[in-house]
Amino acid sequence: MSERSPLTVAVVGATGVVGRTMIQVLLERGFPVGELRLLASGRSAGQTVSVAGGTIEIGEAVPEAFEGVDIALFSAGGDVSKELAPAAAARGATVIDNSSAWRMDPGVPLVVSQVNPDDLEWHEGIVANPNCSTMQLAPVLMALRDAVGLERVIVDTYQSVSGTGADALAELEGQILAHVSGEPKTASVYPHPIAFNALPEIDVFLDNGYTKEEWKVVTENRKILHLPDLRVSCTAVRVPVFVSHSEAVHVETTRPVSPAEARALFAAVQGVVVQDDPASHDYPLATRSAGRDEIFVGRVRQDPSVEGGHGLAFWVVSDNLRKGAATNAVELAEVLVARDWVRARARRSGPVEASA
Ligand SMILES: NC(=O)c1ccc[n+]([C@@H]2O[C@H](COP(=O)([O-])OP(=O)(O)OC[C@H]3O[C@@H](n4cnc5c(N)ncnc54)[C@H](OP(=O)(O)O)[C@@H]3O)[C@@H](O)[C@H]2O)c1
Repeated sequence: MSERSPLTVAVVGATGVVGRTMIQVLLERGFPVGELRLLASGRSAGQTVSVAGGTIEIGEAVPEAFEGVDIALFSAGGDVSKELAPAAAARGATVIDNSSAWRMDPGVPLVVSQVNPDDLEWHEGIVANPNCSTMQLAPVLMALRDAVGLERVIVDTYQSVSGTGADALAELEGQILAHVSGEPKTASVYPHPIAFNALPEIDVFLDNGYTKEEWKVVTENRKILHLPDLRVSCTAVRVPVFVSHSEAVHVETTRPVSPAEARALFAAVQGVVVQDDPASHDYPLATRSAGRDEIFVGRVRQDPSVEGGHGLAFWVVSDNLRKGAATNAVELAEVLVARDWVRARARRSGPVEASA
C-alpha cells in the first residue's frame, strides 16, 4: 500500500468534544482520508453526523469495526482505549490514543509533533497523544532544554471545563444560568460548583497527595523531553473557562537566560507564538487562543527567587481541544504518512532497526 493514497481513518469517540474536533481538524488540514469511519458507544450507533456536506452514520466501537482501518484516532476514555486499541492494532490499524491508558507504557511512543516526532518510528501499532496540560508545555520547555538546560519546573494550571468533556460544558453553562435566575447550582460532573469557583482537583487523588492530572504533567514531560530525572511539580486547577488551558510556569535553567533570550527561543519553536507586551495589556488569553492551533507564551520575566539569572517565570495558553488533543493527534498522523510509518514497525517492509 502506498502511504500517500487515501487512508481509511476511524474516529473513536466521534460524538464527543474531542472526537468532533478531530473530524473538523482532519477536514481543515486536508488529511488524505478515503473513508471516514465514525465510532462511539452503542448508545450513539445508528445516529448520523453531518460531515463536509454529507452524513455519516455512527457505528459501534467493537473490534470488528477496525477491519481495513489504517489510522484510528481514539478519544473515548481510558477503558475503551485499553480494550479496543490492541484489538485495532491487531487488525493492522495504527492507533493514536488521546486517553492516559498507554502514555507511560515504555513500548508506546508519547509524542508532541514538534518535540519528539522521531519517536514515532518505533511504534508497534499504538501511539499516545499527551495530556492537554503537558502538550502545551513541552514545546516551550524543549526550547529551554536545548539552549540553556532545564533543572526544575513548577507549573500551576488553570484548566477549562472542556477538558472534562461535553457534560462539563453543560454543567458550567447550567450553573451560570442558575445563578442569573437565582436558582441553586447543582453539581454532578465536579464535586463542587465550578461556576465562579476554582477547584484544585483534576482526576483522582494519588497516595502522594498529588492528583493524577498533576502527576501526568510530571511524568509525561519527562518522557517526551527525554529527561527522566527532570524535577517537576504541578498544581492543576479547574476554572470556569469553556475552552483553553492557561499555565503559570516557573523554570530553573542550567545556564543563565534573560527574558529577551527566552522570548526569542520560544518564538523559534514551530507552532509557538510569543504575545508579550504588558504595556498594551497584550499577553496570552484563553478566550483569544480558543479555536487556534498555536501555543501562546507571554509574561516572560526573570524569577528573582532563583540566583544568577537561572530563573524564569512565564504564562502559557493553548486550546486544549485543538493543540491539546485533536490537532496534535492529526499532526502525528501527518508525520506517520510523510515518513511512511503508518504501519507498525514490525509490519513495515525493508530493514527493521533496533528499538530506540
Ligand atoms: N477534552 C479534552 O480537552 C481532552 C484532551 C485530551 C484528551 N482527552 C481525552 O479524550 C477522551 C474523550 O474526551 P471528550 O472530552 O471528548 O469526552 P466526551 O465529550 O464526554 O465524549 C466521550 C466520547 O466517548 C464515547 N464513549 C464513551 N463510552 C464509550 C464506549 N464504551 N465505547 C465507545 N465510545 C464510548 C462517547 O460516545 P457516546 O456519545 O456514544 O457516549 C463520546 O463520543 C478522554 O479519554 C479524555 O481524557 C480529552
